Amino acid sequence: MSVAALPDLDALERELSAAIADAADEAGLEAVRIAALGKKGSVSELLKGLGAMSADERKTAGPAINGLRDRLNEALSARRADLKAAALAQRLETERVDVTLPVRETPAELGRVHPISQVIDELTAIFADMGFSVAEGPDIEDDFHNFTALNFPEGHPAREMHDTFYLPTKEDGSRLVLRTHTSPVQVRTMLAKKPPIRVICPGRTYRSDSDQTHTPMFHQVEGLVIDKGANLGHLKWILEEFCKAFFEVDNVKMRFRPSFFPFTEPSMEVDIQCDRSRPGEIRFGEGNDWLEILGCGMVHPNVLKNCGLDPDEYQGFAWGMGIDRIAMLKYGMPDLRAFFEADVRWLSHYGFRPLDFPTLAGGLSA
Ligand code: DAH
Repeated sequence: MSVAALPDLDALERELSAAIADAADEAGLEAVRIAALGKKGSVSELLKGLGAMSADERKTAGPAINGLRDRLNEALSARRADLKAAALAQRLETERVDVTLPVRETPAELGRVHPISQVIDELTAIFADMGFSVAEGPDIEDDFHNFTALNFPEGHPAREMHDTFYLPTKEDGSRLVLRTHTSPVQVRTMLAKKPPIRVICPGRTYRSDSDQTHTPMFHQVEGLVIDKGANLGHLKWILEEFCKAFFEVDNVKMRFRPSFFPFTEPSMEVDIQCDRSRPGEIRFGEGNDWLEILGCGMVHPNVLKNCGLDPDEYQGFAWGMGIDRIAMLKYGMPDLRAFFEADVRWLSHYGFRPLDFPTLAGGLSA
């Protein structure tokens, strides 16, 4: 190739520089590079032609073509860096995460566990840790299990302690009741299995009563321990450990007051220490106020006999606690009636996430 055959290098440079500047993205820029500097590119062809030139021709053409190649390479890398920066800026713009948007919940997370179910799970976890199993009985009871076996004599005024819901009288004169407490499950358990017995019986109970802290249907958890040496010291320890674990405090004082139940002797009611000095707030394990949470006592010898156990061989203790009450206290829910009105707005406010089940290791109400 003679010098005369060299194309107009200035024109070629202008053309390639314009193509570099116009390349819209890295792929377009690469196409320009290949067309100029690739194996068969226009500038590469010129460089190849140098070998065939005379020394004189090469003297001028060589620096001119090499200079062109170097400037093109520089322009290519500068443009590549610009395109990279622009591509990154665009990704940052379009893939930006707005951290102020609310978290989108999956349908499984939207459902809520009712606080009563949650509290039953919590107390079951606590008593299970102490070796208790769960016993159950029917909501519709007969007179024997709800009253007679529990030492409520026929026609005795103690039967009037509970505002009982009766079902229609049957032909034989008997009538079933909606159980007024969970104590009939004690009877069913003692009739069904041999001591040692250690059970809790959480469940629904019914009395004709309705105001801010009473609903016709409510919940209790019964506890029953029957063994040869079971005594009130054990009962006291169990209840103390329960209150500390349930209310999640290190210490809580308890007060045992004498009381009366037909099925226990002696009978007591238990108050726990709390602080109500701040309006609308109640704290456990501190302060000088007391709050009643349960009834308890040593199982009456007549009850043991009615359930086929020899009171000279076995003894035991029992308690009955209002679940709704301790749930209201722990989670600050003021009106019991709202619990059972099936209002999803109430439930989404007070309910619990379905996959956070309570365990002692993982935290009861974490
Ligand atoms: N059943 C009683 C009630 O509903 C509560 C109760 C008191 C249960 C003493 C017991 C107990 O097991 O020993 O008022």
